[in-house]
Amino acid sequence: MQRKILVTSALPYANGSIHLGHMVEYIQTDIWVRFQKMRGHEVHYVCADDAHGTPIMLRAQNQGITPEQLISEVSKEHQTDFADFAIGFDNYHSTHSDENRELASRIYLANRDAGHIEARTISQAYDPEKEMFLPDRFIRGECPKCGAADQYGDNCEACGATYEPTELKNPVSAVSGATPITKESEHYFFKLGDFEKTLQEWTHSDHLQPEVTRKLGEWFDSGLQDWDISRDAPYFGFEIPDTDNKFFYVWMDAPIGYLASFKHYCDREGVDFDSFMKPGSDTEMVHFIGKDIIYFHALFWPAMLEGAGFRQPDNIYAHGFLTVDGKKMSKSRGTFIKARTYLDHLNPEYLRYYFAAKLGSGIDDIDLSFEDFQTRINSDLVGKVVNIASRCAGFLSKRFDGQLADELSEPALFRDFANQAEAIAKRYEAREFGQAMREIMALADRANVYIDEMKPWVLAKEEGKEDEVQAICSMGINLFRVLIAYLKPVLPRTAEQAETFLNIAPLQWSDISSPLLGHQINQFKPLMTRIEQDKLDAIVADSKQSMAAEQPKAEPAAQSEQFDPIADEIQFDDFAKIDLRIAKIVNAEHVEGADKLLKLTLDIGLGEKQVFAGIKSAYAPEDLIGKLTVMVANLAPRKMRFGLSEGMVLAAGPGGKDLFILNPDDGAQPGMRVK
Ligand code: MSP
Ligand code: ZN
Repeated sequence: MQRKILVTSALPYANGSIHLGHMVEYIQTDIWVRFQKMRGHEVHYVCADDAHGTPIMLRAQNQGITPEQLISEVSKEHQTDFADFAIGFDNYHSTHSDENRELASRIYLANRDAGHIEARTISQAYDPEKEMFLPDRFIRGECPKCGAADQYGDNCEACGATYEPTELKNPVSAVSGATPITKESEHYFFKLGDFEKTLQEWTHSDHLQPEVTRKLGEWFDSGLQDWDISRDAPYFGFEIPDTDNKFFYVWMDAPIGYLASFKHYCDREGVDFDSFMKPGSDTEMVHFIGKDIIYFHALFWPAMLEGAGFRQPDNIYAHGFLTVDGKKMSKSRGTFIKARTYLDHLNPEYLRYYFAAKLGSGIDDIDLSFEDFQTRINSDLVGKVVNIASRCAGFLSKRFDGQLADELSEPALFRDFANQAEAIAKRYEAREFGQAMREIMALADRANVYIDEMKPWVLAKEEGKEDEVQAICSMGINLFRVLIAYLKPVLPRTAEQAETFLNIAPLQWSDISSPLLGHQINQFKPLMTRIEQDKLDAIVADSKQSMAAEQPKAEPAAQSEQFDPIADEIQFDDFAKIDLRIAKIVNAEHVEGADKLLKLTLDIGLGEKQVFAGIKSAYAPEDLIGKLTVMVANLAPRKMRFGLSEGMVLAAGPGGKDLFILNPDDGAQPGMRVK
């Protein structure tokens, strides 16, 4: 039976670049979608940029452009990155769109009219200089529990305490530096508790992964809280109907953006949107997300939909976070890799294959190990799969004009290959891509063993063995074709090139069982080359460079910090190794060709050090000369494109213009140890 499936990936924030962590999700979803399409199902894969919220508004201000300009530039960049990774969205839209405005209003009003929205006055931190309410992440101050300086408004990174921003001691606004005041304002709350019973049922009915259901159990136990869905002006978002200058919180209209993108697509393609939205319809709705945003998707989202009389999602599939070489992605190590940086050096299908080989149906984190990456691509894809075709194609085109034999010389071997189609399909369906890749590579091994044993290159030198050579190579090509069909969801471009080489129509799953006989193939062109070490080194070097001054994540995933990846824990000994010194900035200058870096000459009492610091967005060189700051004095020197960097200076802030180097008191002297 043909299924009708609406599939989504989470909507990336419109204020930062796509990085390889994001790509885990888009690649995972895309593989699943391509597989379903190959099986002949009707699949609509949509996504959009998540364009609203305070960070986007402030970033646009910093750059002196309108939020609309910012999100349109970022959207272009995102879409090019995705296209280059062969992510086959059927539609890519924006949450800042007419469709989303209408749907968000409709869903909100239906919930309001059904009594699920409540207005309440709350007091909140307010920046009197900037005249805006401050999200928790934009207030810094001393932890009320342990006194640690410069902590976020919602939790302390030193002692782990969570608290209200109003509890912070000596708070400052990260936007203007002003001392926030407390101000009252009316907010709108979504009464999540109204849906407790149906949510309990829904979360226990096979819509979620078992580990996600367990996690939600903890949240149910601690009680479902009302959810604040409104924000005061100034805010970049949609005004809430029938209110005065209140806006939907970005996370309220973000998931609705899935539907908005789909609506936009349906209007263009003549697909019946309503048939997908009715409860109890024969269509499916499936969301792929990262584990940090489960709360929004598995609780708020089904509740909001129910309150508005819409259908529920059929499945929410969460995945884990990407680590690089066993550690959280790090800007300083050069392992915070942008999609574009990767694309500048390597074939996107290598990463698609590697992620596929690592992905399962659970929410475990997945690790990109450069060494393992290189070995797997070189041995599996280049050494095993592509090798089969290159070993057979030459003989066929040189001696037989590309003509394949009229029958299979080893039908049983071919059947063994083709008979795995259902088993491998089950793996794809269940998102057990790693299992699927292992099974496919086991077949590739068998194909290579077959060719090794038959030795067509020996027979080719003997008289009267023409038919045998043709038969063996035709077998090899047929086995290759089955492997390519199995890998097609993962390697769509390679599969396309292979289809051209094989001179066949685009492969469908149902084609697998019928071999190519008495058929003419085209000249073979190498499909892939090995990964050399210098490409990987270049990716790391470029990443260090481009990350020198980047922005933090846009809007924190509130209430789901349980799933937020925490930086690797370090021991006291590790910390004690860091030699922090007072440094006097004796010179600062622009670096030709670098748009984020300044070159600093630092006096640390014991001599001078040169440091490239990514603070150009916040400081002009002349503002810095003569100032004291704090530097990591014993960091191993790093060669950068512009010269040697012999340490780091400490700075903090949301980024852009608001980035502040630490300014120790005047009493400090260059060279003093920071304690
Ligand atoms: N805008 C929200 C999602 C709204 S969906 C209605 C958001 N955006 S995001 O840009 O921060 O992340 C987009 C997706 O990428 C999320 O599913 C997130 O979990 C995933 N990832 C972001 N960083 C990741 C890793 N390092 N590793 C794996 N996935 C990661 O959240
Ligand atoms: Zn603390």
